[in-house]
Amino acid sequence: MNRYRIAAIPGDGIGVEVIAAGIEVLDRLAARDGGFAFDFEHFDWGTDHYKRHGVMMPADGLARIRHHDAIFFGAVGAPDVPDHVTLWGLRLAICQPFDQYANVRPTRVLPGIESPLRRVKPGDLDWVIVRENSEGEYAGHGGRSHKGLPEEVATDVSVFTRAGVARIMRFAFALARSRPRRHLTVVTKSNAQRHAMVMWDDIAAEVAAEFPDVCWDKMLVDAMTMRMTLRPETLDTIVATNLHADILSDLAAALAGSLGIAPTANLNPERSFPSMFEPIHGSAFDIAGKGIANPVGTFWTSTLMLDHLGEPEAARRLMRAIEQVTADEGLHTPDLGGRATTREVTDAVIAAIEGDN
Ligand code: NAI
Ligand code: MG
Repeated sequence: MNRYRIAAIPGDGIGVEVIAAGIEVLDRLAARDGGFAFDFEHFDWGTDHYKRHGVMMPADGLARIRHHDAIFFGAVGAPDVPDHVTLWGLRLAICQPFDQYANVRPTRVLPGIESPLRRVKPGDLDWVIVRENSEGEYAGHGGRSHKGLPEEVATDVSVFTRAGVARIMRFAFALARSRPRRHLTVVTKSNAQRHAMVMWDDIAAEVAAEFPDVCWDKMLVDAMTMRMTLRPETLDTIVATNLHADILSDLAAALAGSLGIAPTANLNPERSFPSMFEPIHGSAFDIAGKGIANPVGTFWTSTLMLDHLGEPEAARRLMRAIEQVTADEGLHTPDLGGRATTREVTDAVIAAIEGDN
């Protein structure tokens, strides 16, 4: 039997609630399958840890999760600590050193979920956004000096390297090739940003030559927001920079019905380091502790983790269970306009797994 060692880092706010639900579902799924099992190890890193020790995770934190098979992450962020402290102190402190450079974000309108787009039909909106996750606008390059003086200066320098752009393009083209439509849209802003974004476009064209069976096109990021909204059926796989894809994927999540549903995988494709799986949403302190967080984003990201671990059968079973549950409006949480609780949705997904043949 395969045993997978998973580092569970629930973090803050509803992260704790959805990761608990995710672990329950994954354990039941493994029991139902019989061919594999999970050993979850819990790490209570996050804002409480920061308040007690002055750091979001201990100094040897990375070493302690370095050899796990995957990381199952909730969310970080609290109302009384600046967001850049929590984000850089934990989430980015894991993504960057573990070189999780490919951030993969599937978006689809699940059965029973209503898209805010009036004309969208089932199958029209079925995308995977690939976000460059290691450099670009979030490379951490920059500084702030002369604080408080009239001549105060602050810079966040976008850093793009040929190696970094080429590897994310190759990853995106390969992913596009694996999907039925074999179509990739390369997002750029090479009209205004005339150095790095022009290199991004050049490398896209070079890598495209290695994938003659993938059809590709190019979009400026501002026009992309319109195409996503007005012609969603013309898109399939999408690749964009760290900042651009961050923004586009929140739009994508909203167009697919709710941020509470959207999953993401932070992949180190070479598997030199563990990859990290998380719902896209944050700690949502407006609803934390109320038991109404939508756990579907965490369940969907669990299917991505199962695929990564080499359990595609179980991933498909879980996805069927999720879709069976979203199809039932009585099982929608408040973010979807319903009244169901995290507990009820979790129980329903477990029941669907157990009833699945
Ligand atoms: P958020 O994603 O936490 O919440 C945005 C809105 O969506 C809120 O109204 C929230 O109630 C709702 N929402 C989010 N997830 C939901 C779910 N599963 N079920 C039902 N409703 C849900 O984003 P916000 O409010 O901008 O940030 C809150 C904190 O989370 C901040 O500290 C921010 O820095 C952090 N954050 C952390 C992320 C991460 O750890 N990956 C990602 C995004 C934000
Ligand atoms: Mg975001």
